[in-house]
Amino acid sequence: MNSRLDSKHWTEYWKSGNKTTFNSQFNDGYDGEIKSFWKSIFYDLKTGDSIADFCCGSGALINLVIEFASENSLDINICGIDYADISVDRIKRLPNILPRIIANTSVEHSGLADSSIDLIISQYGIEYTDIDLAIKEASRICKAKGKMVFIAHTEESKIIKEASTNIEQIDYCTKRLKIAANVRRMLLVLEDKAKADLSGASRKKADKLRTKINRDLVGLNTIITSNKQSTFVKYFVNQLMGVFESDNGKVIPMIEKLKMVDSLLQEIDDYRLRLSDLLGAALSKEMQSKLKQVLTSNGFRVDVFESIYYQTNNIGIKVVASK
Ligand SMILES: C[S@@+](CC[C@H](N)C(=O)[O-])C[C@H]1O[C@@H](n2cnc3c(N)ncnc32)[C@H](O)[C@@H]1O
Repeated sequence: MNSRLDSKHWTEYWKSGNKTTFNSQFNDGYDGEIKSFWKSIFYDLKTGDSIADFCCGSGALINLVIEFASENSLDINICGIDYADISVDRIKRLPNILPRIIANTSVEHSGLADSSIDLIISQYGIEYTDIDLAIKEASRICKAKGKMVFIAHTEESKIIKEASTNIEQIDYCTKRLKIAANVRRMLLVLEDKAKADLSGASRKKADKLRTKINRDLVGLNTIITSNKQSTFVKYFVNQLMGVFESDNGKVIPMIEKLKMVDSLLQEIDDYRLRLSDLLGAALSKEMQSKLKQVLTSNGFRVDVFESIYYQTNNIGIKVVASK
C-alpha cells in the first residue's frame, strides 16, 4: 500500500527551496527533450493568450513559458494552480509578464472563469489529481479551440523504475540492516560510558554494535562496487561515514553526531514518502486508457498520447488534447 503526500507535505517541500521534484537532475529547471517538447507547444501562443499551469509546484514550467514569451516578445497571461502554499516570489517575472499563483487551491476546483484559458499545461501534475474532476475542470475553463497539454508519470518510465529500486535500497538499509539505528545505539552506549565510565558490559555492547556496523558497511560497499544502480546506498554510506569523521581535525561532540544520525533518518523517511507517492501517482496502462477516455468524454480530441524520452530514457507520456 503506497502512502500519499498531502498539500502540507508539498508546501514544506517547496518552501525548502526545491525547484522541481528531481533536484539533482534539473537544478536549473527542465531542459533537453522536456524543454524542446514544451517549446514546440508554445510556438502556437499569441500575444494576449491565457495559460493555466495545473499543479504548478515551484513554477518550473511557468518559468519555461515566461522564458519563451520573452524570447518571442509575447505578452501573455499565466497563472499556476497548486494545492500547496506556493509563494509567487520564487517564480520568474518580467515587467510585462507577472505570473499569478492560485495557491492552496485544488485544480479540480480552480475558480477560473468558464472558457477563459487558451492553453492548460501540466508537468507531472495531472496524475496526482482526481483525473475525472481535473479534466472536467480543464474542459470548463478551456476556450473553444483551446488545448490541454501535459506530461505525466507512467509505470513504464525509468523514473518510476529507479524510484522503486531506491525504495528497495532504503528498506534494505534501514529496515533490514538497521545500520543507522545501530550507529545511533552505539553512540548512546559510548555517551553513557564517557559520562559514567561504565563497566566492561557497555564496552562489550559497543564493540558488538561496532562489529555489526563494520560488517554491514563492508556489505554495502560491495553492493556499491558491483551495482551501478546503487544511488541510494552510495549516498547513505557517504552520509553515515560523515558521523565518524572529524570536522577539520576537531572531534565532533557526541550530541552533534546523534543529531547527524537523526537528521539523516528523518531525511530518508521523507524521501521514502516522496518516492512512495511517486509510485502511487504513476499511471498504469489501465489508467492511461481511462485518461484518454475521460479527455474524450469531456470534449477534448486526443491528438498526441505517447511516450516521451529524455536522453533516450522513457520518462512518462506526453499528451496533447484540443477542444
Ligand atoms: C510532482 S509535483 C510537480 C510540480 C511542477 N509541475 C513541476 O514540474 O515541478 C506535483 C504538484 O502537484 C500538486 N498537487 C497534487 N495534487 C493536486 C491537486 N489535486 N490540486 C492542485 N495541486 C495538486 C502538489 O502540491 C505538487 O506541487
